[in-house]
Amino acid sequence: MNTPFQNHPLRVRRSLLSVPASNARALEKSTTLACDGVIFDLEDSVAPEKKAAARAALKRHFSTLDRTCGREHIVRVNPLSEDDGAADLEAVLECAPDAVLLPKVCEPQDVLAVADWLSEQGADDGPRLWAMIETPAAILNIAAIAEVGRTSGSGLDCLVIGLNDLRLATGIADMPGRPYLVPLLMQAIVAARASGLDIIDSVHNDFADLEAFAAECEQGRQMGFDGKMLIHPAQIDGANRAFGVPAAAAEAARAVVAAFALPESAGKGAINLDGRMVERLHLAQSERLLAKADLIADKEKSP
Ligand code: COA
Ligand code: MG
Repeated sequence: MNTPFQNHPLRVRRSLLSVPASNARALEKSTTLACDGVIFDLEDSVAPEKKAAARAALKRHFSTLDRTCGREHIVRVNPLSEDDGAADLEAVLECAPDAVLLPKVCEPQDVLAVADWLSEQGADDGPRLWAMIETPAAILNIAAIAEVGRTSGSGLDCLVIGLNDLRLATGIADMPGRPYLVPLLMQAIVAARASGLDIIDSVHNDFADLEAFAAECEQGRQMGFDGKMLIHPAQIDGANRAFGVPAAAAEAARAVVAAFALPESAGKGAINLDGRMVERLHLAQSERLLAKADLIADKEKSP
């Protein structure tokens, strides 16, 4: 039986660059960068007095945006409970991005309220919903929040960890290796997988230290994240590498597929591949990995 994780549509989300919608140069530059997605930010990176101008700039940007460029376009809005939230969602209706990223989600209702609002505007087939997991309440309610993606038809399909807010709200230290955060992050990953959602690791603030960034990407990959939210173009290559499919992994996956295709493997659930047990679940896993490698190769081919 396939798990919700395996049944989830395969999307390549290695590198998601946050771009303050108030920064004209960054908006322009984002159309040239090799990230898998751009998160246009109307929330924390935009000063309160610049929110309206940022929405206007975002609408202008979307009016000329090439939607066939292979990048996902996501808009991070302010919370619906705040003044700018509703105006941001109005802008989202006009821009029609692939997804809306909801900040400071605390409970399922925070996602359902936006799904209802979009539905009331006749935008049922509108953008998918993504949720920032960055409050202590979200960590406590993580399974229920993720379940909204499996059970409600809300369009929730991705969680994004936000450690700057979570550290601020909890006092957990910012340390290499994130020792006190790992248990919380693992809960979020398991909750996302139980509901078949993608999950993206938090930003790394020190964009000048690419070595520390690479180490954090590798840790995130080992933990099971699909990709990383980024703050600076210099971080894109490292994230694409860490969350991509290394040649050796693709080769190993092809060996599993070839071994199960042999006549003597017919009707067997488990086989011996060079002294290692491989089961049909590894075949499914290998096929998914190769499909991801193909999607990445297609991306890299397109101009
Ligand atoms: N998106 C697109 N382009 C970006 C960018 C971003 N997030 N961050 C920097 N750039 C561009 C700059 O415009 C500059 O372009 P240019 O030299 O071709 O004109 C180039 O990359 C180098 O930028 P640099 O001078 O190193 O950085 P900076 O001082 O301009 O900006 C930050 C540093 C941190 C202020 C900026 O990277 C930023 O705002 N990041 C996003 C913050 C954010 O979204 N936070 C919310 C999520 S936590
Ligand atoms: Mg924040």
